[in-house]
Amino acid sequence: MTRVQQGRFITVEGTEGVGKSTNIDFLCNLLKARGIEIVLTREPGGTPLAEELRALLLSPRDERVSEDTELLLMFAARAQHIENVIRPALDRGAWVISDRFTDATFAYQGGGRGIDYEHISLLEKLVQHGLHPDLTLLLDLDVEVGLKRASARSEPDRFEQEKIDFFSKVRDAYLQRAKNEPQRFAIIDASVPLSEVQQQIASAVSLYLGN
Ligand SMILES: Nc1ncnc2c1ncn2[C@@H]1O[C@H](COP(=O)(O)OP(=O)(O)OP(=O)(O)O)[C@@H](O)[C@H]1O
Ligand SMILES: [Mg+2]
Repeated sequence: MTRVQQGRFITVEGTEGVGKSTNIDFLCNLLKARGIEIVLTREPGGTPLAEELRALLLSPRDERVSEDTELLLMFAARAQHIENVIRPALDRGAWVISDRFTDATFAYQGGGRGIDYEHISLLEKLVQHGLHPDLTLLLDLDVEVGLKRASARSEPDRFEQEKIDFFSKVRDAYLQRAKNEPQRFAIIDASVPLSEVQQQIASAVSLYLGN
């Protein structure tokens, strides 16, 4: 019996308004043009229950949200997403593209909120059972420019209400992770016009695919 080849797991990361959602369709189309089956998803979310947790996490509220509550809700949503969507797709050979994944937890809850990376790593091991992205596109942009782009698009969510200093720490944490794992990350300069961002994404994908 022939065994189905495992799919690949690609994630798109970056601070608010860098263009993750805008560029993810382009990325999907690039891969579909090569005959690859794509499952497009996002975090927090990706399943009905995980989307409910997303709504809880993102909605602005008067009650202060404990950092540990936020972290655990993120991983609760992720556990559901992995078991019901990501693993099954990869097992049947589809490629999964996710708008954010665990690098965002290290960047926002770790870098931004100051939660110990060791604690995040523990939850990562517990929930992911060795699952890690094969390729991560990090869209990098000055945080103020990104926030301006995001605010022109929609009302700020609970995270977008944070101060510039918070997002600067998030951006630094992302860049540090990219530096620590250069073989997995492709850093994309998101400050340039969309067509140039897409050229960089196309090059990163070609490099990853080895052609
Ligand atoms: N290279 C670019 N130059 C100028 N504007 C851009 C560029 N890329 C995206 N935009 C615009 O910036 C806004 C934010 O883009 P998008 O929603 O894709 O960002 P995002 O990273 O998904 O944001 P969020 O973190 O809030 O999900 C959109 O209005 C989009 O059209
Ligand atoms: Mg988005």
